Amino acid sequence: MAKKSKNTFYITTPIYYVNDVPHIGHAYTTIIADAISRYKKLLGKDVFFLTGTDEHGQKVEKAAQEKGLKPIELADQVVVRFQELWKALNIDYDFFIRTTQPIHEENIQKIFKKLKDKGDIYKGIYEGWYCDSTEHFLDEDVPLEEGGFKICPECGTKAFIVSEECYFFKLSAYQKPLLDFYAQKPTFVRPRSRMNEVVSFVKQGLKDISITRTTVEWGVPVPDDPKHTIYVWFDALHNYVTGIGYDWDRPHFEKFWPADVHLIGKDILRFHAIFWPAFLMASGFPLPQTVFGHGWWLKDEAKMSKSKGNVLDPHLILETFGPDPLRYFLLREIPIGLDGNFSHEGFIHRVNSDLANDLGNLVQRTLTMVHSYFGGKIEEMDKEEKADKALREEFENSKEKIIRFYEDYALNRALEEIWFFISTVNKYLADNEPWKLARDESQKKRLGRILYQAAAALRVISYLLFPVIPVSSEKIWDFLGEEKSIEDESLSELKFKNLKLGQAMKEPKPLFPRVALKDFLKEEETRQAPPKKEEKMDMITFDEFKRMDLRVGEILTAEKVEGTDKLVKMEVDIGTEKRAMVAGVADVYSPEELAGKKVIVIVNLKPAVIRGIESRGMLLAAEIEGKAIIPFFDKDVPAGAKVR
Ligand code: ME8
Ligand code: MG
Repeated sequence: MAKKSKNTFYITTPIYYVNDVPHIGHAYTTIIADAISRYKKLLGKDVFFLTGTDEHGQKVEKAAQEKGLKPIELADQVVVRFQELWKALNIDYDFFIRTTQPIHEENIQKIFKKLKDKGDIYKGIYEGWYCDSTEHFLDEDVPLEEGGFKICPECGTKAFIVSEECYFFKLSAYQKPLLDFYAQKPTFVRPRSRMNEVVSFVKQGLKDISITRTTVEWGVPVPDDPKHTIYVWFDALHNYVTGIGYDWDRPHFEKFWPADVHLIGKDILRFHAIFWPAFLMASGFPLPQTVFGHGWWLKDEAKMSKSKGNVLDPHLILETFGPDPLRYFLLREIPIGLDGNFSHEGFIHRVNSDLANDLGNLVQRTLTMVHSYFGGKIEEMDKEEKADKALREEFENSKEKIIRFYEDYALNRALEEIWFFISTVNKYLADNEPWKLARDESQKKRLGRILYQAAAALRVISYLLFPVIPVSSEKIWDFLGEEKSIEDESLSELKFKNLKLGQAMKEPKPLFPRVALKDFLKEEETRQAPPKKEEKMDMITFDEFKRMDLRVGEILTAEKVEGTDKLVKMEVDIGTEKRAMVAGVADVYSPEELAGKKVIVIVNLKPAVIRGIESRGMLLAAEIEGKAIIPFFDKDVPAGAKVR
């Protein structure tokens, strides 16, 4: 493969299972990927950002079964939920791969066949403890419990012995090449502590792994041996190559492969740091630069998961705040790599203090002053004085640091540094008191300089915040009267002085809503209250109702159907003709009672044969505890009269 150009950048998220709807944990990985990808685009890189869904395997098969759906029906429903969430979070991915896409499935079969022909995949018999929920065979050193079974150390559920003919991948052959690779590239797994974890695991020895199942129907069939399906992880990991064109757009594949960074949660580190590079070595492809395993978002100190019932639904937050505050909070609160505890208190506190107060107020104050003192346009200003120059130089300094942090994926540090600079600007205004200068006409140009510095600072601040809070950043640029979009200025061109003098600025609108914690929690509680049981009502139109021919029928004769307890056979006059009907009313009415009565009959119901008797019509009755109670008329009505 030709060497990939330095100017391209390829970033991925895990592809998420469609057994359940997305939560804040999934959002976290995708937001990190989006922020890094936006940052790289500001550098002028040709970025490809891939995300998608992992749709095969037992987990999805089971979830679908429980819902009475076909796996693909469940996948189709859940995929929409992911895509809607990414839209609401302003995620700018380049391609969304679904592992059920034919192009992916065909490519998986090709890869499988290639490795089989090469001898890296072979047929054998596997017996082991298998966990349905995490879809993998447990390591052999997982101890037996007292009842003689094993518990999956990852999810805590009971594992089962599975014995089957299957295809193996020769992972054992890659132990040495993997260790050599880790030694030569210690930044392959980040954070560093996780690299050590992986190395010591591989040093203990690697066994060949089974990569097909006969127990799972919902998967890509093994080529030429379709009673086996390909193990969901073999299928899923290869999305990173099929999603950029592997065998269907080779130039595109070669342009972006290898990945610069695979972002994942630490739960799936081994798959990405051991299996994945081994599969790639077998295929003869270059290996990814970095696998970054981030920490978990915990709720009440426990990992969010559906089974624990502690998942956080991001929708109320997004409806209340829009995308930027959640993006900011998740990236600001913890370094990528450590665990974080999500609480609404923490979230709202941070949003109010950092976004609404520090940044929001700075924008509001600066632009309001530009409007009241200059009608929106600073036309003239003095030369920079010492304090003004210091502010500009402070920015140049910060900018270097911020870039270094972004380069290092230390997004929380980049944000921290930007906030130092925001407080410097706030202090600059407090020290220079433009509101006092405004009272003295002779200070107009000095005032112009101060507000220009503040506005110029806002311009660069919002630029550097763009990867994290793109919507608000663009709004600030718009308030400042910038006509181009942030993405049209490359990071290397970014200068404090890029703000043009005399530019018409707009009156600012509030950027971040200020929401009181108690109001938010109240709304959240209302949302979480179990929905009132409502019968789903299937409405019909009046025209549909009119299709029913309901008439008054006069029961002329009635007799019990022999050998039954409930059935009565009747002759009913419906005005135009006499018809035989059968009704299950004998436990409530005697035939004598019925004869001569007028009832409501539906006459255009398709005839039914009951106990060998054709019933041509049905009389209406209320059903009370299995008994039919017939409505009779309290005024005289002729047989055949229409009922509506
Ligand atoms: O593992 N905190 O899919 P998945 C932070 N299909 N991140 C979390 C999280 C939490 N509490 N919960 C989930 C799979 N995540 C496979 C991946 S890739 C070839 C196949 C994030 O739906 C985190 O990125 O279980 C984690 O790795 C991913 O969701 C797991 O998603
Ligand atoms: Mg999972």
